[in-house]
Amino acid sequence: MKIGFCICGSFCTHKKALCALEALAAEHEIVPVLSFCAAKTDTRFGAASELTAAVTRICGREPVTTLTGAEPLGPAEPLDLLVICPCTGNTLSKLAHGVSDTPVTLAAKATLRADRPVLIALCSNDALGANLCNIGTLLNRKNFYFVPMYMDDAEKKPHSLVSDMSLLGTCLNDAARGAQVMPVFCRR
Ligand SMILES: Cc1cc2nc3c(=O)[nH]c(=O)nc-3n(C[C@H](O)[C@H](O)[C@H](O)COP(=O)(O)O)c2cc1C
Repeated sequence: MKIGFCICGSFCTHKKALCALEALAAEHEIVPVLSFCAAKTDTRFGAASELTAAVTRICGREPVTTLTGAEPLGPAEPLDLLVICPCTGNTLSKLAHGVSDTPVTLAAKATLRADRPVLIALCSNDALGANLCNIGTLLNRKNFYFVPMYMDDAEKKPHSLVSDMSLLGTCLNDAARGAQVMPVFCRR
């Protein structure tokens, strides 16, 4: 399959996401996409240039980091499926409200326009807070699928969920045939 792999600004999960990307890249053609935030922000988890270099090495091509780069990923240059891994609460809320002002949200809009699936691996401290309604909205919307999520620290982070990225390959195959992997909410 030709897969779009989008990375958002959940910096603490980039290492796991890159492992998942490496596994996918062994089997599929990957078009990488970085959000403006992921492409530009240096944090204690690493430099933006390191992320870009790792993604370019794994995928054998430079990531899309602009709106003009993301726009053709619909009818003009169709993908079989778009993965957002990690997806931030910020990007999730934009998707739920039809906002497409970043490379990731525009790639999702382009993919949906071509009636192809979008698979979300959400990692957010407000998944069980401000974003809970947006999970519900997208679970109920055509062509959106979720990687199963669990509470990473119920005591210290009672509003946080992270996706189990080890399930990405299974979720991708199921989403491609129109099925959601269950249970959506799981134990670690
Ligand atoms: C060090 C650091 C870690 C962050 N981790 C997360 C995270 O795990 N999940 C999340 O939803 N937002 C996280 N954020 C906030 C997002 O980066 C922020 O909402 C940003 O606007 C997301 O943009 P994007 O969705 O376009 O990538 C983090 C920010 C920083 C600086």
